Amino acid sequence: MDRVKNSEGRKVEGRLEASSTGTVERAGPERESLVRAAEAMDDGRPALKVDGLTKRFPRPEGKRHGFWRRRPRFAALAAVTFAVERGEIFGLIGMNGSGKSTLIRIVSTLLVPDEGQVKVFGVDVEGEPARVRELINRVAVDAAFFKVLSGSENLRYAARLYGLAPRVARERYDGLLTRIGFDPKRLGDQVKSLSRGERQKVAATRALMSAPALLLLDEPTTGLDPRSKREVQRVIREMRDEAGTTVLLTTHDMEEAERLCDRVGILHEGRIVTIGTPAELGERAGGRSRTLEDAFLKFTGAEWLGEENGG
Ligand SMILES: Nc1ncnc2c1ncn2[C@@H]1O[C@H](COP(=O)(O)OP(=O)(O)OP(=O)(O)O)[C@@H](O)[C@H]1O
Ligand SMILES: [Mg+2]
Repeated sequence: MDRVKNSEGRKVEGRLEASSTGTVERAGPERESLVRAAEAMDDGRPALKVDGLTKRFPRPEGKRHGFWRRRPRFAALAAVTFAVERGEIFGLIGMNGSGKSTLIRIVSTLLVPDEGQVKVFGVDVEGEPARVRELINRVAVDAAFFKVLSGSENLRYAARLYGLAPRVARERYDGLLTRIGFDPKRLGDQVKSLSRGERQKVAATRALMSAPALLLLDEPTTGLDPRSKREVQRVIREMRDEAGTTVLLTTHDMEEAERLCDRVGILHEGRIVTIGTPAELGERAGGRSRTLEDAFLKFTGAEWLGEENGG
């Protein structure tokens, strides 16, 4: 009970527990050394460098010709090249199936590239995946949970993986959950009994309670109500402002990308078609309103559909 009260108190102060005053001190010695390790690598290398990244998957409709023949494949990512600077919030937008989650999965070492190179603070994801995993954390809409376990059991399990002391972890996730509108009292419920949005809140909390050097967020606010969405966005910005966390996120919410991201890259059919600040992309769209949505429509070829419908 006390802890709940404590975290509510913090909420009133409007501070992010995980990144207020001493992120590093509170993170515990293990995490501290990781954050330090990332800082020690501060030799001008970007937080994330993606070079000529290509990933192919079998075509779902492709027929195997003979048992040994491979099914025909297509490039979900085709020679993708970009970099994310330290402390930057970088957004990836693009149509369904454009390759955003595939890219995030490769950076988080869940998938291996077919061609090209990906480096996190100079560490190669293929060469040293274990070291990369110490520097990152990932939240996805399709986040995996132990569904028959409770929310708190899942969070405690994650905390152990992150090397967080149980008490520190508890304080953090109680604080975060209260902020984003999930009553910590419900943490005893089995994850499978939670609504999609409630589950997403637990998933977001799981990623945000650690202080990774690079935070990977695959649609972190999809399915959240507007108030919770704003709060998650605020937490992300605070982590960047106060702890210097670098963030790579994907979203289908153009307003979110505009509000949150320093730069945005548009992925289309596995290729980055343009990169810039939201304002720059709006300019490039050349439309009258010049919003990020205009840029999205222009660079994903959807404006052509509009013309056809109009004519
Ligand atoms: N494990 C897999 N096996 C086969 N094909 C896959 C696999 N993962 C992704 N794909 C395919 O790769 C393409 C890119 O998928 P991806 O999930 O990266 O898209 P996305 O941009 O995240 O889409 P969304 O916005 O819907 O989340 C899609 O055509 C998808 O069907
Ligand atoms: Mg996706």
